[in-house]
Amino acid sequence: MQTLDYKGKSVIVTGAGSGIGRASALRFGELGASVVVCDIDSSAARSTVETIQAAQGIGIECVADVTDPVQVDGVVALACDRYGRLDVMFNNCGGSFPMPMLEIDTAEYRRLMALNLDSVYFGTMAALRVMLPQGCGAIVSTTSGAGLGAVSGLAVYGAAKAGVISLMRSVAAEYGKQGIRANTISPGAMDTPGMRSWLDTKPGGVAGYNDAQPQGRMGRADEIADAAVFLASDLASYINGVVLPVDGAVSALLASPQ
Ligand SMILES: NC(=O)c1ccc[n+]([C@@H]2O[C@H](COP(=O)([O-])OP(=O)(O)OC[C@H]3O[C@@H](n4cnc5c(N)ncnc54)[C@H](O)[C@@H]3O)[C@@H](O)[C@H]2O)c1
Repeated sequence: MQTLDYKGKSVIVTGAGSGIGRASALRFGELGASVVVCDIDSSAARSTVETIQAAQGIGIECVADVTDPVQVDGVVALACDRYGRLDVMFNNCGGSFPMPMLEIDTAEYRRLMALNLDSVYFGTMAALRVMLPQGCGAIVSTTSGAGLGAVSGLAVYGAAKAGVISLMRSVAAEYGKQGIRANTISPGAMDTPGMRSWLDTKPGGVAGYNDAQPQGRMGRADEIADAAVFLASDLASYINGVVLPVDGAVSALLASPQ
């Protein structure tokens, strides 16, 4: 019987110092994985590793900027050096704040594309170079409702996140016969530090945003973590190239005329 047992498996999580990435790194660690905690913020990465280790899990921090392909290659190399293989690549890092399309200048466009799409491309390429010779591997990437449908103020972020979906589908189609699975998670509004830093600037704040959600609350980061550990596991062995919304019905509303 297949189970959610990650003992002996090597897992990289990007953006693992905060929010969804942190919750996912902790969850993989609880399930026995050897986790590479990748973040640009060293103290945030260290805190996640310390929490994994305090629960008797295995984790190592890796400070890297996921927009730089050389640094991303270094993250994968670290996983292979320390743990001898790479079973799961969770390309989670990304983010944006809403901004009218015409106010996004070229520099900001490039920054958003780099953070939200280049990072996933670099992580996927580096992971494939290790996973293909292994004959197996699971790649999971984080998109957004803005990648599924238009969200006012998130044009470039949405374009990048739509690209993430397309990239994962292509990996599934091209490398499925070689033991690779690639899937995408689409979070709804999640109560993370990243989300809170934006909500703190809004008049309705957290309470107003909770109320606006179809389930009456934002999601929790650990609710995405549970989807990630499932999609990356053998329990999902024939799930390949899908987009899994974990969004409390937000995408159901996107699909309906409002
Ligand atoms: N929170 C939400 O409501 C929501 C909704 C839809 C999609 N998402 C997506 O989920 C993912 C995680 O979001 P979150 O809210 O948990 O994020 P967050 O802002 O709480 O945390 C992001 C982490 O990424 C790190 N980071 C930023 N730039 C980096 C870089 N260049 N290299 C390495 N690390 C870097 C930060 O230091 C931070 O620890 C993102 O891809 C985001 O687009 C979030």
